[in-house]
Amino acid sequence: MGRFPQELIDQILDSVDIVEVISDYVHLKKNGRNFKTNCPFHNEKTPSFVVSPEKQIYHCFGCGAGGNAISFVMKYESMSFPEAVEILAKGAGIELPRFNASDGQAESVSAKIYEINKVAAGFYLSFLKSERAGKAREYLRSRGIGSKTLEEFKIGYAPENWDSFKKYCIRRNLSLKLAEKAGLLITGEKGSYDRFRKRVIFPVFNEKGNVVAFGGRVMDKSLPKYINSPETPVYTKSNVLYGLNFCKRGIREKNHVLIVEGYMDVIIPFQSGISNIVATSGTALTERQVSMLKRYTKTAVMIFDADQAGEAASLRGLDILIENDIKVKIVTLPVGEDPDSFIKKNGKEAFDNAVETALGLFEYKLAFLIRKFGIGAIGEISGEMLPTIRKVNNAVVQSDYLKKLAERLGIHEGSLRQEMVKVKSARSRKNEPVSLTARNKTGNFRTSEIHLLGLACAEKEVYKKIQDEVGLENFLDESVKKVIKIIGTCMEPGDKKIAPGKVVARLGGDENAEAALFEALSKAEITDDPLKAAQDCISHIRKEHHKNELKMLTESLKKAQEVKNSENVKILLEKINILHKKKVN
Ligand code: UTP
Ligand code: MN
Repeated sequence: MGRFPQELIDQILDSVDIVEVISDYVHLKKNGRNFKTNCPFHNEKTPSFVVSPEKQIYHCFGCGAGGNAISFVMKYESMSFPEAVEILAKGAGIELPRFNASDGQAESVSAKIYEINKVAAGFYLSFLKSERAGKAREYLRSRGIGSKTLEEFKIGYAPENWDSFKKYCIRRNLSLKLAEKAGLLITGEKGSYDRFRKRVIFPVFNEKGNVVAFGGRVMDKSLPKYINSPETPVYTKSNVLYGLNFCKRGIREKNHVLIVEGYMDVIIPFQSGISNIVATSGTALTERQVSMLKRYTKTAVMIFDADQAGEAASLRGLDILIENDIKVKIVTLPVGEDPDSFIKKNGKEAFDNAVETALGLFEYKLAFLIRKFGIGAIGEISGEMLPTIRKVNNAVVQSDYLKKLAERLGIHEGSLRQEMVKVKSARSRKNEPVSLTARNKTGNFRTSEIHLLGLACAEKEVYKKIQDEVGLENFLDESVKKVIKIIGTCMEPGDKKIAPGKVVARLGGDENAEAALFEALSKAEITDDPLKAAQDCISHIRKEHHKNELKMLTESLKKAQEVKNSENVKILLEKINILHKKKVN
């Protein structure tokens, strides 16, 4: 976080309205003082996602997600803190300082690469329309790509010469160094030359529609079939899903995504009206790709060709989806077909049909393993199935799978369950949800402390009262203590209330502290008289402290008596006496 001064973050938070920010992504409905909608971060049927314009925070009572405008953008866009800050600052017209030269440079290099990539895409696109590209146009026509699709996907053609694009850069006064950095030129011993020559060009877009790379395909059977841009400051192959920029809406609307491998396997289905399809460019899905998809849907349909279907390795690659709570279905295409050729041969309806009747991962994997090992191979089959089942986060679904597996294998569910416990979970600790109930068990003082915290946010007077009558150090819950101290640092002399959004910004991503704050705010929501409520909480906390102190002294007394330390016994008895007399209210 260190990159931006806190005042700047505050200024940004003051200038944006969280309701407007979130409305850019999801449809919010007015609900009393707040706005409500279905939570974009977990699947739900009734809305538990609340946005408070007053407090400038959001909170989901279902999954516990919550934060300010910055954390919303971070979570929704899978962005880093500086990236989200940058987006919001831009929207608010606030200029961000550049803290050091390399930083500033790094950012402008990306911007420049986007720019030259755009220029290059335009160059290839217009060359495709030129006289010398007749063969390329004919090739694309033979692959069934219509002119509207050509425009939409900005498909182009790279001339045959070694330096057409290079010369274009020189004519236009574009930096050759930059073109090299963008991967458009290759540096050889005798200088640089065009990477893409005599190939049909498919620009690769990022989620926002910027051109980040290119794929160039030969028009005959020569090899390599495709050459691609190298990794550049704006392009990491494993971070991109081809087609996502076109299909974001479609994926949300249909609530599932079709995952294929190749450029053509996105383009042809898209052209035929399938608007929820993306490609991985021939590699296994990565964590980053899954987290991008997760923002749009929780169901993925993998479309495999007949070869892949036989590879257990690709099945294992699917675990990354399950670990991310994504429901996986699998379509296997007939031998020799990919989505492009399948649609051309059988039509869109047949393709839709295959998707609709896709098997779930469990059924698919089980059927595959039974075919591979034979139904009698209980050890092998359960050995492959249990790690997958173990990764399912939904207990009901997991239990159902175990039952089904036991039935199919003709063994007891109990023994499978025991086996499964032994299977080491790949799930990392940090992914475990924070359990509110578990933390509540730490003591009944917490309820009062939490409530008091919420009241302190609602009313500056309450905060003063707490300072005077309780003392900030005396909170027993560490998270509450942390938040309450931070609130102090956010108070401006003129304000009557504090801005929870700003408090969140200072918590440094401490999930327990965030959870405490959200719990506190939701409790304070229903209080009419915050000062009175605060008084009640303070009394309760004092009583708790009193009780604790007595308990501690009594224990010490017992010990002192055991070791016959009469001096200490005397002192402790006196203290206990005083404490007993002290009236607590
Ligand atoms: P495919 O061989 O399935 O190609 O590779 P395709 O997309 O179906 O292409 P057509 O139909 O033959 O034109 C799938 C993906 O793997 C990557 C490309 O991203 C391709 O779309 N690939 C493939 C390469 O990067 N280089 C290659 O040489 C081959
Ligand atoms: Mn193909």
